[in-house]
This record gives sequence, C-alpha cells and structure tokens, in this order.
Amino acid sequence: MDTSNRKETYVEGDRFYKVFDRMKNKADVLNEALNQAWVEETGLSIPSLLEVKVIDGCWALVTRYIKGKTLEQMLEEEPEKEEEYLRWFVDLQLEMQSKRCPALRKHRDKMNGKISQTDLSATLRYDLHNRIESMPRHNSLCHGDFNPSNVVIDESGKAYIIDWSHATQGNAEADVARTFMMFLVDEKKTRACRYLKIFCEKSGCQIKDVLNWLPILAASQSVKGIRKQTGFLKNLIFMDEKGLEELYEEV
Ligand SMILES: Nc1ncnc2c1ncn2[C@@H]1O[C@H](COP(=O)(O)OP(=O)(O)O)[C@@H](O)[C@H]1O
Ligand SMILES: [Mg+2]
Repeated sequence: MDTSNRKETYVEGDRFYKVFDRMKNKADVLNEALNQAWVEETGLSIPSLLEVKVIDGCWALVTRYIKGKTLEQMLEEEPEKEEEYLRWFVDLQLEMQSKRCPALRKHRDKMNGKISQTDLSATLRYDLHNRIESMPRHNSLCHGDFNPSNVVIDESGKAYIIDWSHATQGNAEADVARTFMMFLVDEKKTRACRYLKIFCEKSGCQIKDVLNWLPILAASQSVKGIRKQTGFLKNLIFMDEKGLEELYEEV
C-alpha cells in the first residue's frame, strides 16, 4: 500500500483504488473522475473509471487495474534505453494531443486563474495574462502532468495514460513545456533536453514555441508553494527573451 502524497492506493482483484485523505476537496475528486470519464470517450488508451465512492469517510476513485510497470520504473531499471523510452513517451503524448475533448476546461482559463492566485506584482501578472492572450489558440487534449509515472505499460506492452486530474484542452506546446519544466524541476536536465528535441523532431513544433510557455507555467506551478521549487520557478517567471534564447541554445 502506497500512502504518499496524501492518498492511499491499493489493488483488489482487477480494481485499482485511489483513496484520498479526509482533507481532500470533494469537488477536486469529482472533477478528476469527470475528466477521466470525458477522456475515456475519446478512445485514448486509459484505464476505465469503474466507481466513485466514499470509503471510511474518504473519497475514492476506482479504476481498472493495469498490471505492469510505469514508464518511470522502466526508465529507472533500464537507463540505457532512455532514448527508446522517451520516443515512446513522445508518441503517446502526440496520440493524446490528436484527440479533442470539448467538454474539458480550457487550458488558457486555467492558466489565467492560476496567475491571478500568485503573489506576483500586478505589473508582472498583467504581463503574464497578456502573454497567455498572445499564444496560439488550439484545442488539443492536454494532460497537465504528462510524466513517465503517469504512463503504465501492461504485460503485453500496451500503454495506458493515467492521472487525469489536471486535464484541459488547449495548446499542445504548453503541455510539452510543462513536461520539460518538471524534468528540470526534478534535476533531470539531460532527459529534459533529450525529450524536447525528440518531441520537436517528431511533431515539427519549434523548440522556441514550447519554451515561450515557461514563464506562464512556472507562475502557475508556483501557486502550489513547494519551497524547494521556489528559486527555480522564480528564475523562469522572470526570464526575459534573452534568457529564453540562452535556454534554447542549451537545448
Ligand atoms: N489504474 C491503474 N493501474 C495500475 N496502476 C495504477 C493505476 N492508477 C494509478 N496507478 C499507479 O499509482 C500511481 C499513482 O497514481 P496516480 O493516479 O498517478 O496518482 P498521483 O500521481 O496523483 O499520486 C501511478 O504512478 C501508478 O504507479
Ligand atoms: Mg501520477
């Protein structure tokens, strides 16, 4: 049983239980369930949602158990296969982004909401809202936390994308920028750059168009108030064109 991150997870037969702690906001649990139900309808490979229930006073989501390993475990166990696994990871992200899910919240609205919640100066918040406005408007299915621990590979080698609490519809490059940023937060810079290059090579996207999202995404992430991320995120939030240019050179 895993009790990390204010939730418990366990398996019973072919069912995977994700039981949140008592403090968890009911609306957030129902939102995650609803997102998952909408995404299921796109036909993307995800575990089906079987039940939303209360267990001993705690809200829980029950999904079909995928027996296998996460891509994160596989990357840990076989570091020499990083390039191959990242290519697979990118293919799955592209497949997801090819889907449309018009019922989901718009990524742009979510970002505007987060920027308003930051403690940044009014001027900077104004700049960030404008930056969002200037970004191309797309309607791809975006995961919001697309990382290797949210991809489960079953014993036959079929991949499933899980953990839909942050799903939105919007600009695919923003979703890629978030994945890139979170690899950097985890101090996996080599992996971050490798991933971004593969994504841009496969999709035809420009690295610069992805990096342009970083100040917005860093401001959004800063709302979580995770102390060890503060310095890193501040750096990205305040990064000017020259800074982004330098980061581009590094990738
Ligand atoms: N349906 C499932 N089948 C198999 N394993 C799962 C399933 N759902 C979640 N997991 C496992 O539990 C972990 C945590 O679940 P997840 O939904 O990603 O929650 P969070 O990342 O918010 O803690 C995943 O990384 C994966 O290892
Ligand atoms: Mg997860």
